[in-house]
Amino acid sequence: MARILITSALPYINGVKHMGNLAGSMLPADVYARAMRLLGHEVLYICATDEHGTPAELAAQAAGLEVAEYCEAMHVAQKEAGANFKLSYDYFGRSSAPSNHALTQHFANVLEEKGLIEERTSQQVYSNADGRFLPDRYVEGTCPTCDFEKARGDQCDNCGRLLDPVDLINPYSAVSGSHDVEVRDTNHLYLKQSVMSDKLRAWVDASEGWPNLASSIAYKWLDEGLRDRAITRDLKWGIPVIDHVGNRREGFEEKVFYVWFDAPIEYIAATQDWAEETGSDWERWWRTDKGANDVEYVQFMGKDNVAFHTLSFPTTILGSGEPWKLVDRLKAFNWVTWYGGKFSTSNKRGVFMDQAIDIAPSDYWRWHLMANSPESADAAFTWEEFQLGVNSDLANVLGNFVNRITKYCASKFDGEIPEGGEHGDAEAWLVTELQTRIPDLVKFYENREFRKAMAETRAIWAAGNEYLTQAAPWSHYKTDIDKAAVGVRVGLNLVALFGIIAQPIIPDAAAKILDAINIPEGNRSWNFGDAAGIVALIDALPTGLPIAPPELLFTKIEDEDVARWSEQFGGASE
Ligand code: MF3
Ligand code: ZN
Repeated sequence: MARILITSALPYINGVKHMGNLAGSMLPADVYARAMRLLGHEVLYICATDEHGTPAELAAQAAGLEVAEYCEAMHVAQKEAGANFKLSYDYFGRSSAPSNHALTQHFANVLEEKGLIEERTSQQVYSNADGRFLPDRYVEGTCPTCDFEKARGDQCDNCGRLLDPVDLINPYSAVSGSHDVEVRDTNHLYLKQSVMSDKLRAWVDASEGWPNLASSIAYKWLDEGLRDRAITRDLKWGIPVIDHVGNRREGFEEKVFYVWFDAPIEYIAATQDWAEETGSDWERWWRTDKGANDVEYVQFMGKDNVAFHTLSFPTTILGSGEPWKLVDRLKAFNWVTWYGGKFSTSNKRGVFMDQAIDIAPSDYWRWHLMANSPESADAAFTWEEFQLGVNSDLANVLGNFVNRITKYCASKFDGEIPEGGEHGDAEAWLVTELQTRIPDLVKFYENREFRKAMAETRAIWAAGNEYLTQAAPWSHYKTDIDKAAVGVRVGLNLVALFGIIAQPIIPDAAAKILDAINIPEGNRSWNFGDAAGIVALIDALPTGLPIAPPELLFTKIEDEDVARWSEQFGGASE
C-alpha cells in the first residue's frame, strides 16, 4: 500500500467559491482521496484558504472590514462550505497562519543565500490619486498580447498571459479608476527563475502521469524562456520581508511577499499545522530525507494554476537545494462554464457553493460535477443536464434498483437475506460483466480519469438492473421459490456492491444504502480481489442478515424546479 499526499489548489479567500471552482480542484481531489483510502492507501489530503494578495485586500475593502477580520470570517465560511459538500480534508489551513510566515521567510532566506533571489530596482505603476504604488490587480489596462481592455496587472483573463503591470497599455488604478498614474522606480525581490530553466526542464521531462494539458503548459513557458519574477508587492496585508536580525528588511517596510510565492508553501505549512494538531509527523510527507521518498504527491488544480505549480513553486523547492518533496502527479482541469459563458457574481449568473447546498443535496452536485468533469475540455453546466443526470443516473438507475429489491425482500422474504437455490445463466452473465468492469473502475480511479470512472460506476449499476430483468425473482416466486431466492440474494449483494463503489462520489447516499442493509463500517472498503474474488462478491452476504429498504435516497428534479432555478440564477435565456 502506498502513501499518497493530495493537495487541491488553495481557494482564494475572496468569497465562497462557485461550482466551477469546486469541480476543477477540490471536488475531484476529494473523490480521489476517498477512493484511495478505500483502496487501503494511507492518504493525507491538505487544503487551505489562500488569504493574501490584492484580491483579499480588495474584497475586504468592498465588505467594509479589516483584512484580518474579513479573512477570518471567510475562512470559516469556506470551511463550512467544504464540509457541506463533504470534502474530506485531513486539514484545511490558512496561508496567513504563523507556520506559513515562518516557512515562507525560510525559503526566501535560503534562496537568497543560493543567489536565486536578488533585490532589483524596477519600474512600477504609481498612482498619484491614490498616493501609492499599485501592485498586480490594483492596475488594469489593455493586454499587450490580445488587446483585451480589462486585463489585470498580473494576468490577462482573456488570453491567459501572465503580465507585469507595466506591460499594460493605457493603465489605470483599479482602486480609484484614475488614469493619473505614472511609472516610478522601486525595489523588489526577484526570484531568478531563468537560472533554473534547465533543471526545471529536466524535471518536467522526467515527470510521468501528467495529463497533456499540464505538460503542454509547462513546456510552453519553458520554450518561451522563463522570466525572473518579482516576489514582493506593495501591500500591507501579507507576509512581511524580514532581515537577518528580525527587523523588516530595509526598503521593504511597506512591502510583503507576493501571494503566489507564499501560497504553495502553505501546502507544507498546513501539513505542519495538521501534524501539530494531531500529534503526527509532517516530515515523513514532505522531507525526502525523512521518509517522504515513498510518498506519491498528487496535486489538483485548474489550468490557470499550472504554470505556478510546474515552474514557480518547483523553482522554490528545487532552488532551495533542500530535500523537499516535489509533486509527482499533477491533475489539471479546464473550466466549467455556465451555459457556455462565464460564471459571474455581479451578473447573477452561476451558482456558488453556499447557494447550491440550499438547492439540492451535496450528493446530487457531486455526481453531476464529476460525471461532467472538465477533464479534456471545458464543460458547460446547465440546469437541464443537472436534472437529467440526477433523475436518470441517481434516481432511476441506482435509486430504483435499491428500492425495488430491498422492498421486495422486506415483503416476501421477511426482510432477511434468503437462502437456497443455485446460480445459473443470469449470475454467470453478471459475473462476467463485473470481472471486467470492477478492475476497470479501479484503474480509472488510479489514473484519475474521472469521467471514465463515473461512466463505469453507472455501467455497473445498469448491469444490476439488467441482471434483475434476467433473473426476475418476482416471476419465479410462486413456482420456484429457490430460484426467486437466488435473484433476491444476489440482488441484495449488488445493493451492497453499488453502495460500496458509490462511496467516493455520493458518500451520503452510499452510507444510507450500506446502513440499510447492515454492512458493518469495517466491511465497506475496496477489497474486490481477483477474478475469483469477484465471483464470490455476488453472494458474499450471510443469509439471514436482516435488511430494510433505506429511507428515500433521491428525489427527482421536476421541470418546475429547473424553471425556477433558471430564473433565479440565470440560465439559457441570458
Ligand atoms: N488561489 C489560487 C487560485 O484560486 C490557487 C493557489 S494554489 C497555491 O487560483 F498553491 F498557490 F496555493
Ligand atoms: Zn490578453
